Amino acid sequence: MALFVSGVVFVNCSPRIAATTTGAPKTEYPLAQLESGKAIWSGACTKCHKGYEPASHTAKQWERIVPRMAKKAKLDERQSADVLAYLISGAAG
Ligand code: HEC
Repeated sequence: MALFVSGVVFVNCSPRIAATTTGAPKTEYPLAQLESGKAIWSGACTKCHKGYEPASHTAKQWERIVPRMAKKAKLDERQSADVLAYLISGAAG
């Protein structure tokens, strides 16, 4: 009887661990959104005062500040969301 070797081939056992980013959920925004947010921020958020850097406030603070400042800067909802994403992604905590 022919011996059919089972088709199991051990191909160099390279583990493919899904690169899940752990511990940094606040940075999980699409890169395009962060880039857009940064561009809007550097244009609209530096007019009346210095540009407050992302790390100057915590994510919690940004959530309160950005809607207030977005009104001053006359941003629409998407622009405001992009700026918030950018600021939170680099926030102090
Ligand atoms: C029309 C002028 C104007 C624009 C545009 C503007 N700001 Fe402001 N911002 C102010 C004024 C005036 C204050 C100080 C008084 C206050 O807090 O409301 C301030 C204060 C701040 C502070 C300090 C608040 C705190 O509580 O520490 C931050 C941070 C800030 N702005 C961020 C932003 C961001 C982000 C944007 C863009 C979305 C922006 N600002 C656009 C006028 C503006």
